[in-house]
Amino acid sequence: MKKTRSRAPGTLITFEGTEGAGKSTLIEALKLQLESHGYDVVSTREPGGSRVAEQIRQVILENEMNRMTELFLYEAARAEHYTTTIAPAIKRGAIVLCDRYIDSTFAYQGAARGIPDALIAKLNDIATEKTLPRFTVFLDVDPEAGLKSATNPNRFEREGTAFQEKVRRGFLKQIRKNPKRFIKLRAKQFPAETMAEKLIARLKLKPLKTKMQARR
Ligand SMILES: Nc1ncnc2c1ncn2[C@@H]1O[C@H](COP(=O)(O)OP(=O)(O)OP(=O)(O)O)[C@@H](O)[C@H]1O
Ligand SMILES: [Mg+2]
Repeated sequence: MKKTRSRAPGTLITFEGTEGAGKSTLIEALKLQLESHGYDVVSTREPGGSRVAEQIRQVILENEMNRMTELFLYEAARAEHYTTTIAPAIKRGAIVLCDRYIDSTFAYQGAARGIPDALIAKLNDIATEKTLPRFTVFLDVDPEAGLKSATNPNRFEREGTAFQEKVRRGFLKQIRKNPKRFIKLRAKQFPAETMAEKLIARLKLKPLKTKMQARR
């Protein structure tokens, strides 16, 4: 089945990085600033971001499991989240800020757990109807420093530094493969509000129509 990547009216921007890199904090700062400029902003997360997907999140984060089971659960959560939350928001013209997305699967299930990229790519395409983010912000952090500041230690954080290093290398490979999509930032280089301001300048967002223009 061939699908053209049509330009949707809204924009999807995703945030990636290892644990404790500052993704959630940056998304929150960015959301406030974009809303103050008048944009319609939806912030969401993976796994999760919809009722069923949040339930799948609990199963993934609280249980040890086979790596294939884990992959399918992530992709199931993604399919549900995409169709119920992301796609409708993009359609109505919102800016969607998503905490983790397709690249996390290449980094965690691919680079760290050893599942082939080709399989992950196929499942990502199915779950998201091939919807790529307009931009992906990668917050690069020394994995050890990141683990120390992670908020809720879960089973991935408990895997330790060697695992986090593999994850980081997986993200760097994604950046090499998709240089135009990625924006790589050093995590916590500035306060989140400053990072958000600098980022907005790089996002090439469509200017908002003023009320006068909208009436024409
Ligand atoms: N720009 C920043 N400068 C300094 N500290 C920061 C910055 N951004 C986040 N932090 C701090 O780092 C810690 C981790 O931040 P945050 O929870 O946003 O990371 P995360 O990438 O969402 O982590 P997780 O993977 O655990 O969800 C928090 O204590 C937060 O206050
Ligand atoms: Mg977070």
